[in-house]
Amino acid sequence: MRYSLEAGGKRLRPVLCLASAEAFAPKADASHAATALECIHTYSLIHDDLPCMDDSDLRRGRPSCHVSFDEATALLAGDALLPLAFELLAIGYAAKPTLATALVRELAVTAGSTLLVGGQTEDMDGQQGDPERVEFILLGKTAAMLSASFAMGAMVGGASAIDVEHFRRAGRAAGIAFQLADDLLDLTADASALGKPVGADAENGKSTYADLHGVGATRQRIEALTVETVGHLRATAGDTVFLVELVRQMAARRR
Ligand code: IPE
Ligand code: IPE
Ligand code: MG
Ligand code: MG
Ligand code: MG
Repeated sequence: MRYSLEAGGKRLRPVLCLASAEAFAPKADASHAATALECIHTYSLIHDDLPCMDDSDLRRGRPSCHVSFDEATALLAGDALLPLAFELLAIGYAAKPTLATALVRELAVTAGSTLLVGGQTEDMDGQQGDPERVEFILLGKTAAMLSASFAMGAMVGGASAIDVEHFRRAGRAAGIAFQLADDLLDLTADASALGKPVGADAENGKSTYADLHGVGATRQRIEALTVETVGHLRATAGDTVFLVELVRQMAARRR
């Protein structure tokens, strides 16, 4: 658990959560929610790299968890990070039971069978060119967690229900753009910059959005989704200057 968490990574989900809280006037500490999100994300990466899934031996610039230890240890490290996320929420927001319940619900739905796990399940079958299915995968395996990062941050920040929904939608659009960029990087980047293997999607027989529509159309869609994200952020009462700058940089990311 420590090996994979402490390997680093961009910490994007926690940063989005903290910045979303700070966009409002937080009356609770968003770091518990931020850490919970990173626990779920890291568990999903450990399991994603297992031989029965993407069979990937490099993660965050280090040998993947199952390579450094063994498959059983990696499976169990992921298993334990998953409930740890909910333990952190329950303990961290014990003094605010309504907020705690809302955060647990948001993260549980996000990590469950209709989103994160559902997206990963469909992704394992390859994408076979069905556009609806590709959208389901983009939303489930990646955008849902970014959406929850924005929404949970806004909830801790005390945003109105309407503003939380804007943040949820901002995260959905930013998250789809994030996975499109991940798919492009798998085609174009090098492994040392990325800290994970490249060409993995083709090797695993996965046809991504970029395969279906081409690199140019994928870049255009990332741009359009970024505009959509900014629109949702700016529609709220929050101070979103930092978040707007961050999502613009995410669209041009190289790792
Ligand atoms: C990798 O996520 C998996 C995807 C959803 C694309 P990140 O690119 O955020 O990975 P880390 O956290 O920086 O390692
Ligand atoms: C994985 O998508 C998303 C999750 C781990 C939920 P990918 O399989 O494309 O992620 P990478 O490229 O291995 O980071
Ligand atoms: Mg995968
Ligand atoms: Mg993978
Ligand atoms: Mg990938």
